[in-house]
Amino acid sequence: MLLRGKTVVVVGGSSGIGLATAELARREGAEVVIASRNKDRLTPAADRIGARAIVVDVTDDDSVAALFRACGPVDHVVVTAAQLRTGPVKTVPMADARATMEGKFWGAWRVAREAQINAGGSLTLVTGLLSVRPRMNSAIIAAANGALESLARSLALELTPVRVNAVSPGIIDTPIRAAMPEEARRDMLAKTAAALPVGRVGVGEDIARQILAFMTIGFATGSIVYVDGGAIIS
Ligand SMILES: NC(=O)c1ccc[n+]([C@@H]2O[C@H](COP(=O)([O-])OP(=O)(O)OC[C@H]3O[C@@H](n4cnc5c(N)ncnc54)[C@H](OP(=O)(O)O)[C@@H]3O)[C@@H](O)[C@H]2O)c1
Repeated sequence: MLLRGKTVVVVGGSSGIGLATAELARREGAEVVIASRNKDRLTPAADRIGARAIVVDVTDDDSVAALFRACGPVDHVVVTAAQLRTGPVKTVPMADARATMEGKFWGAWRVAREAQINAGGSLTLVTGLLSVRPRMNSAIIAAANGALESLARSLALELTPVRVNAVSPGIIDTPIRAAMPEEARRDMLAKTAAALPVGRVGVGEDIARQILAFMTIGFATGSIVYVDGGAIIS
């Protein structure tokens, strides 16, 4: 087991990529803490995988500080928390654009500031393919992802001997699209799958395995890895 004796904190661990990462870390022998806002979703997820649950809101400085006070020193921290609001630059409300940066970018910043990570441990940020393959009406998400990639590289210098990396997922089938009408969601995922060299969209574990690689490869820092089913080349 690759993570026996290690402690892993997954911020955003109640769902999707974060939950898949927490599950994989448990299977690899780690003590795992999962953290997110909605206790009703967090607690059953933690109970199911045998993790500790701590409620946190990454948009709140004090909440993030309290999370890491409760955790103490840990070995690996992963940030998947994000709630994204987007739209055309000319019309998306400023409050929505700011909220996207507040959660996804400043959330990761707060975690980097507060987490006490043991030497040789790692911080992994989750960005997204829009940073390099933009789509219409998603500029604020693309910008948040790009900023996170720059942040990961900078922090890899600043936080050494803690290692800092980022994984950039392509389209992954997670609850992030729960608000979409079911038929439209399935249609979008099917069209995406058909256009990709791998012939399918991703699942949470595809990204979790990359995050596990960042945790366990002591030579990996300042790396940005695109795990996208070939979206970047198609
Ligand atoms: N799925 C994709 O296709 C895809 C593609 C590219 C990039 N990504 C990125 O991958 C990351 C994970 O996405 P996912 O698909 O796993 O999403 P998800 O299933 O919606 O999970 C998001 C998690 O973040 C938590 N969260 C949201 N806002 C939070 C806040 N303010 N404070 C604390 N926790 C918060 C959520 O729980 P609560 O709501 O209870 O807080 C949930 O646990 C995101 O950064 C996303 O942008 C995803």
